[in-house]
Amino acid sequence: MKRAAENKEELEVQKLSDSSEKTNLAVEVRGLKKGYGKGNARTEVLKGLDFEMESGDFCVIMGASGCGKSTLMSILCGIEQIEEGTCKVNGLELKKLTDRELASFRSTQIGIVFQSFFLDEARTLEENVEMPMGYSGVKKKRRRAQAQKVLEEFHLAELAKKRPSQVSGGEQQRAAVARAIVNHPKLLIADEPTGNLDEENTKNVMELLTGLNENGMGIILVTHDPYAASFAKRKYVLEHGVLKEERNRN
Ligand SMILES: Nc1ncnc2c1ncn2[C@@H]1O[C@H](COP(=O)(O)OP(=O)(O)OP(=O)(O)O)[C@@H](O)[C@H]1O
Ligand SMILES: [Mg+2]
Repeated sequence: MKRAAENKEELEVQKLSDSSEKTNLAVEVRGLKKGYGKGNARTEVLKGLDFEMESGDFCVIMGASGCGKSTLMSILCGIEQIEEGTCKVNGLELKKLTDRELASFRSTQIGIVFQSFFLDEARTLEENVEMPMGYSGVKKKRRRAQAQKVLEEFHLAELAKKRPSQVSGGEQQRAAVARAIVNHPKLLIADEPTGNLDEENTKNVMELLTGLNENGMGIILVTHDPYAASFAKRKYVLEHGVLKEERNRN
């Protein structure tokens, strides 16, 4: 049974890479509109947003609290649906994918760090970090070795056997980043990945991410922290429902 399920999963992955257009763009968003609620309670959040990012680039998105950054990140992960416009990630038009294909897209094509980390309390940090590799069919022994290597890089090796509630908020956050990159995704979508970290740990995580970016992983980072933002190559501000690139940073 399990083998059949794995085969099915592999088929989905194969289908996704076949249908993904050969494009140099990691993200291509056009005329994106998204709001919440109905009638008087309606809030328009994204109002015809355009955004393009080349594969392997490193973009930061900043903007006031409530301006729609997490909404945009959820859309890029295929978690929230868009109302108008188009959204392509790694050449795949997300609204054309089935739920199954979207799940496969999330586990094989992108890495996600959510603003609230969503670590699995029933698993240790090590098991949490191993999880994405399980979905993409990596054998148990390699999963464990790779998870341990990444936990070491994030200075979490000695906490590997602890559960999320037994470690600090900053340690949970680092574990969430470790989990997101363990599968070597083409694109990392990270919503406030350093929000609970002190300056030293922020530097640590940002240097690790910069190293991964230099090896070809694209990154979209959302942050309020100008120091974390300074590691990115391009800076955008989300305001009034649209994204604007800030070109004169210095
Ligand atoms: N599920 C939802 N239902 C209704 N409104 C929502 C929902 N999710 C977000 N919103 C509203 O949409 C707007 C954008 O929220 P979002 O979380 O994207 O902001 P943000 O830029 O990520 O803010 P922060 O910097 O505080 O994380 C806010 O006004 C928020 O209240
Ligand atoms: Mg947010």
